[in-house]
Amino acid sequence: MSSLTRRDLLRSGLAISASSLVARRAPALLARYAAATDSPPALAPRERLLFDFGWKFFFGHGSDPRRDLGFGMGQGDFAKSGDFTFSTEKFDDSEWRSLDLPHDWAVELPFVWDEEQNSHGYKPLGRRYPETSIGWYRRAFDIPKEDSGRRIWVEFDGAFRSALVFLNGYFIGRNDNGYAPFRFDVSDFLRYGEKNYLVVRMDASFGDGWFYEGAGIYRHVWLTKTDAVHLVQWESYVRSTMQGNAATLALGTVVRNQSRQTEECRVSWQIVSPAGKMVSTVTSAPQSVSPDASATFTATANLSDPALWSIESPNLYSVVVMVGSGRTPAGHGPEFRASGNPRDSDRITFGIRDIKWDADKGFFLNGKRVTIKGTCNHQDHAGVGAALPDRLQTYRLAILREMGGNAVRTSHNMPTPEWVEACDRMGMMMMCETRMMSSNGEAMAQLELMVKRYRNSPAIILWSMGNEEWVMMHQPQGPRVIDAMIARTHELDPTRLCTAAVNTAFETPFPEHLDVMGYNYNLKVIDDWHQKHPKIPSVGSETASTVSTRGIYSTDKLRNWVSAYDLNHTDWSELAQEWWKFYAAREWLAGGFAWTGFDYRGEPTPYGWPSINSQFGIVDMCGFPKDNFYYYKSWWGSEPVLHLLPHWNWGGREGEPISVWVHSNLDSVELFLNGKSQGSQKIEPLTHLEWKVKYEPGVLEARGTKDGKVVLSEKRETTGDPVAIRLTSDRTEIKADGEDLAILKVEVLDKEGRALPTAGNKISFRVTGEGKFLGVGNGNPNCQESDKEPERSLFNGLAQVIVQSTRTPGTITVEAYSKPYPRPVLPAVQLTITTKKVELRPSVR
Ligand code: GAL
Repeated sequence: MSSLTRRDLLRSGLAISASSLVARRAPALLARYAAATDSPPALAPRERLLFDFGWKFFFGHGSDPRRDLGFGMGQGDFAKSGDFTFSTEKFDDSEWRSLDLPHDWAVELPFVWDEEQNSHGYKPLGRRYPETSIGWYRRAFDIPKEDSGRRIWVEFDGAFRSALVFLNGYFIGRNDNGYAPFRFDVSDFLRYGEKNYLVVRMDASFGDGWFYEGAGIYRHVWLTKTDAVHLVQWESYVRSTMQGNAATLALGTVVRNQSRQTEECRVSWQIVSPAGKMVSTVTSAPQSVSPDASATFTATANLSDPALWSIESPNLYSVVVMVGSGRTPAGHGPEFRASGNPRDSDRITFGIRDIKWDADKGFFLNGKRVTIKGTCNHQDHAGVGAALPDRLQTYRLAILREMGGNAVRTSHNMPTPEWVEACDRMGMMMMCETRMMSSNGEAMAQLELMVKRYRNSPAIILWSMGNEEWVMMHQPQGPRVIDAMIARTHELDPTRLCTAAVNTAFETPFPEHLDVMGYNYNLKVIDDWHQKHPKIPSVGSETASTVSTRGIYSTDKLRNWVSAYDLNHTDWSELAQEWWKFYAAREWLAGGFAWTGFDYRGEPTPYGWPSINSQFGIVDMCGFPKDNFYYYKSWWGSEPVLHLLPHWNWGGREGEPISVWVHSNLDSVELFLNGKSQGSQKIEPLTHLEWKVKYEPGVLEARGTKDGKVVLSEKRETTGDPVAIRLTSDRTEIKADGEDLAILKVEVLDKEGRALPTAGNKISFRVTGEGKFLGVGNGNPNCQESDKEPERSLFNGLAQVIVQSTRTPGTITVEAYSKPYPRPVLPAVQLTITTKKVELRPSVR
């Protein structure tokens, strides 16, 4: 939800004078303004400023206060208010490192061979690593004098973990969990018209999960300023119901009055269509809101023939919610009449769509049965760890969509706003999961935040109360806890059903308490459970856990490699082809979520050290597809697919039979080696094809036929020695906003210009101009080279470099070169990316 900008207003067609766009800052400013123009009071949009740029960072210490800014030295730190010197002007942070958020310090740390740390990717975090588990962040910033009288919040989208927040010497508050957003009203503690000093101490000694979680302020931070009369955060909702071709929108919000007098308030909702037209305005009845009280406002709007949100056409509406107070001043347009004297406003994006879960027929979107073709994903990526810039989140979703995926599960925690917003924009359905399955205060608070924060997102089709709580699901506490969680979720959002990802507890009463049954693995129990519970709709909350290493075609336990043919899974899980055939054959199963779309750090499976990440991904840590990607694309996507594996560089294995597979959704495929047919085979739906071919170097070619015509062909050629480096960027023009990225693929080529599929050359990078190097990766689950050094070995022919723009338009040059050792030396190449001027997101200064 972003604030009401000038552009929103213009787009929404509000007839509004230029003068009324001036932010209402403070009575003093207002008075000056009014006197100068004799105009009515100005519109009061809130300000939402990005707080990501210009931080300082310092490693503290988890057990030695002397190395932790003296924090905890005499046990009297919290004795007096205003006494935390490190967040005052007296403190000198000039020796601290400068950085921008989002930031994950865990990804910068070296790996340690400590089996206790394997789930978190062998990073030195935790109570046994006090010197790398505490991070201090500090930021000096200005607050104008005119802001006095407004309500001002510092807002964190999520930070890992245990944040202690201090401002201008004062302790402001704490937040322990690593995923839910948190905010503090700092209005009383700011120094208006002066410099302010915000300090955040992050402690990653404890984790929330059994997977890599990063460390530090790894999501955005914001400074939000509103009037004393304002809309309460995430209390605004839009619920749509379809009846024939018309939608009824139930609108609601909560207004809080933090002024000193009773305010007569009204709320208006201005609804803007996906095409940018204002299609309806409704207003609530007025209510008096006493000082320090809140009031709920509701209204209903009707839209005829709305543009529905769907996977194919993710139409998004928005609504400008505005609270006004007092009498409508004379001489104002209709928008003022609707809301009185505007005090605060917010813009909410929503979609109109109809969802239904059916125990016999699965899931329906807008009246049409849709099979859920989903993946579960953790939130980390090569080069950046858990600190994903917004662009990378869209990039990752685009890869999953390219595969034919239409849904994602945010395992096992609430996602970033950018992930949800990207799903809304891209038509990706979501199963949105909270971290802690419990009805204790902390867990219920996290759940409430998740539901309130995201309930307007059309992408979310199901709330998940959690994952595989082995202990609780079997005990009497399980049903009690889940009943409480589901009841509260329904109260906050009566439009969606709830599930939980169940494993082992199939025979207990627990799953009977769910609206939608979520099966994790266990194909053998599913039919039976459904038969016994024919009225409960069901989905595969977690399936697959197939393991494979990109570009590897024979399993090698000594090197921690698993072949990329669809042949390997753990003893609790399934092959891609196995689970999908099972699910596709059952209409009552709504589809499922494969574990996982992307490889992720931590939980190294099937091998431990030196593997530092899992091998469950359908794509690797960089998003480079493994071969199973094309199995899914064949049977999930809508385009013709033909994918041939393995590569054809098997020098030394001449005459040996090699397994050749094809993933394709055509009718039949004929295979050729050096022009000689190896036979044609018919494709049985949801199944791959296989040949055994005696190796000889040259060209392996598959030709795929549809309706009697060859429509696709693919070759694998035996390549020569590397002679050149190739850099390819996902885009050659990006935004000069200090946030956007160019994501580069690095390969080496032979003299014919063919990429070497097995290359492991080490390549170095130099980034100059208006950009900075952000990180590297290569998708090798066993590679312990740094994500943050500008060099990387290719893994099976590929590496990735991530580059971020500055806020100055210009060009970024990325140079790739090889050093004398290891040989061969390859000529340097350069790629230029243009960064274009854009309107910057308003930021804290
Ligand atoms: C599941 C669990 C996931 C992951 C997966 C690996 O049981 O829910 O978080 O650990 O196993 O196969």
